[in-house]
Amino acid sequence: MQEHIINGSTKVCGLLGNPVEHTMSPLVQNYLARVTGHNRVYIPLPVKADLEAAVKGAEAMGFLGCNVTVPYKSQVIPYLSEVDELAAQIGAVNTLVRTEQGWKGYNTDMPGLHRAMMEDGVEIAGEKIVILGAGGVARAVALLMARNEAKEIYLMNRTVEKAEAIAAEVNAKAGRPVVKAMALADYMELPSGKYLAIQATSVGMHPHTEEAVITEEAFYEKIHTGYDLIYNPADTKFMQLVKAHGGKAYNGLKMLLFQGIIAYELWNDTKITKEQAAGAYEVLAAGVERGVK
Ligand code: ATR
Repeated sequence: MQEHIINGSTKVCGLLGNPVEHTMSPLVQNYLARVTGHNRVYIPLPVKADLEAAVKGAEAMGFLGCNVTVPYKSQVIPYLSEVDELAAQIGAVNTLVRTEQGWKGYNTDMPGLHRAMMEDGVEIAGEKIVILGAGGVARAVALLMARNEAKEIYLMNRTVEKAEAIAAEVNAKAGRPVVKAMALADYMELPSGKYLAIQATSVGMHPHTEEAVITEEAFYEKIHTGYDLIYNPADTKFMQLVKAHGGKAYNGLKMLLFQGIIAYELWNDTKITKEQAAGAYEVLAAGVERGVK
C-alpha cells in the first residue's frame, strides 16, 4: 500500500455534521485513498451553526466532495443545485458531489444497504419482508424494498400510526399497495410463511445490548433472515434470537461500509474492488472494536 502523502495536489473531502467526533468515515475513506493510490484526504468538519455557509464554503474551497450526517441530512437539501431522484424520494442526502453548477446530493445509505445485502446473498425481489420500526431509517428502508420488487412488506411499529403514515406514502410512491402497517404487538397476525426481517430501530444498540424490539420466540420462528442495521454490538440480541431459531443474521457494518464506498466511487468516478472493500471492512471492524463509533 502507498504511503499517504498530503501535498499541493491533494483533493479534500469532508464530513459535515454535529457532532462528528465519533465518525468512522475518515478511517474508511482514507484507507480507500491509500489502496487506490488517489491523492485524497478526508476530514471531519464539525458544523455547529450556519450550514449554508459551510456547504458554500466547501464548494468555494474546492472540496472534491462531502458527506453529510446528523442533523443535516434533510436540512442540506435547499443548498444544493441538484438532488438525485432516490435521495429526493427519501428526503435525505448524505453525499455531495461537485458539478459545474454546485453540489449534487445523493443518498448512499440505502444503496449501501442494498449492496451489503447483495454481498451477503440476501434477496429483496419476490421476498416477504418485515421492517421493525417506523422512524426515518425504517421509512427509507421501506422505500428501498418497495423499489426493489419486494413481494410484501409489513412495517411493524410500537406506534402503529407512524407505520400507517409511512405505508401510505411509500405505496403512493411505489404505485402499488406493497406496504402494510402493523403494531409490533400483533406479530402473530403476520400471514404464514417465512420472512426477511430488517431491524430498523435503535433498540439493542450499545450499551443496551440485552434488548430487542421483539423478544417473543414465536416471532423468530417466522424469520429466515434477520438484518439488523445496528453494528455496535456486532452480534445484537435481535441477531441472536434469529440465529437461535435457525435463521441467518447480519449486522449493519456492511451497510456503513458500502455507503462510504459508494460515496468514494461517486467522488472519484471509480469502482472499488472486492479486495479493497474487504480491506476497508477490516479497518472499519477494528475501529468499532476500539470503540470509535
Ligand atoms: P431514526 O430516524 O434513526 O429511524 P427515530 O425516528 O427516533 O430514529 O425512530 C426510532 C424507531 O425506534 C421508532 O420506530 C420507535 O418506535 P415509536 O415510533 O413507537 O417511538 C422505535 N423504538 C425506539 N425505542 C423503542 C422501544 N423501546 N420499543 C419499541 N420501539 C422502539
